[in-house]
Amino acid sequence: MMSTGGASQTGLELVDRDESGVDRAFRADVLKGLSQDHKAIPARWLYDDAGSQLFEDITQVAEYYPTRAETEILTDRSSEFAEAIAPGCAVVEFGSGSSVKTPLLLGAIGPAAYVPLDISGDFLRASAQKLSDKFPGLPVYPVEADFMRKVSLPAQVADIPKLGFFPGSTIGNMVARTSVDLLRTMRDTLSDSGGNTAQLLIGMDLIKDERVLTAAYDDAAGVTAQFNLNLLRRINRELDGDIPVDRMRHIARWNDDFARIEMHCEALENMEFTVAGQSFAMAKGDTIHTENSHKFSRRSASTLLLAGGWTPVRRWTDSAGLFSLILAEASINRSAP
Ligand code: AVJ
Repeated sequence: MMSTGGASQTGLELVDRDESGVDRAFRADVLKGLSQDHKAIPARWLYDDAGSQLFEDITQVAEYYPTRAETEILTDRSSEFAEAIAPGCAVVEFGSGSSVKTPLLLGAIGPAAYVPLDISGDFLRASAQKLSDKFPGLPVYPVEADFMRKVSLPAQVADIPKLGFFPGSTIGNMVARTSVDLLRTMRDTLSDSGGNTAQLLIGMDLIKDERVLTAAYDDAAGVTAQFNLNLLRRINRELDGDIPVDRMRHIARWNDDFARIEMHCEALENMEFTVAGQSFAMAKGDTIHTENSHKFSRRSASTLLLAGGWTPVRRWTDSAGLFSLILAEASINRSAP
């Protein structure tokens, strides 16, 4: 049971392309990022078709533990989810799941509806269809929207309690102020006039031995390296660039001050290149920063959630203590000391 075609928030194509088909936001972000003295490109651009496939491959490599750990929690603790989560709720997933995680949650709690939100319409409809096939009888209402802004949910779920689902520690890709903005926006998206308290089930990866962390982002088979360098290939292809990708290398480093893994592309020699008609230079050892993956402690996770308007109520970890899933409730504004 899937609503036809999916609702688009704007009714317009969400990607703004110029006459020659270039994604304007991609070009603007790349040119701005390469012009800085510390070169950096927003991580969202890693996920074109090839990048999304490479990420799926990463989830299968031995060193990359988050997907397996989170899946273990969802599998082993299903009865606890059923007991902690409001019965008959609508599950609103931020970013539509192509993964095995969504069916595990839906199977555990038996919700009244599933509402996947995604900026990519094709991807959204494909995964919504898969879910519909797996759960016949479950109403699925896909919404094509940018969930970094408030989304108005379909009328069919207006008055039932909402559970936001944001797995994968995707929140860790954002710096603190952006993640707080997103958490507050999620609270707005999930609130309703009926006075139901919204819940949020969010995956947050944990701080651990630095070698385990760096290995997870620099696997021996080089899949993560391909994922990272694919961004440069994408720039060359879509923005008429000539970055010498074979003279760049992937690096993953732990930044202890910010409790995060950073991915960079490092220049192996001095180089000059052009992108979209503009010239850039890098010296040997200079890097382009391409992704952050923040890691959390029990307390830092709570602080972030509270800052975003969510009160943690339950917390689960996998048996090895690598990863956490946290259930939070929209905080009430009551007076506090
Ligand atoms: C998709 C954001 C969960 O940060 O662990 C994996 C992306 N980057 N390996 C993560 C990623 C390199 C991943 N998330």
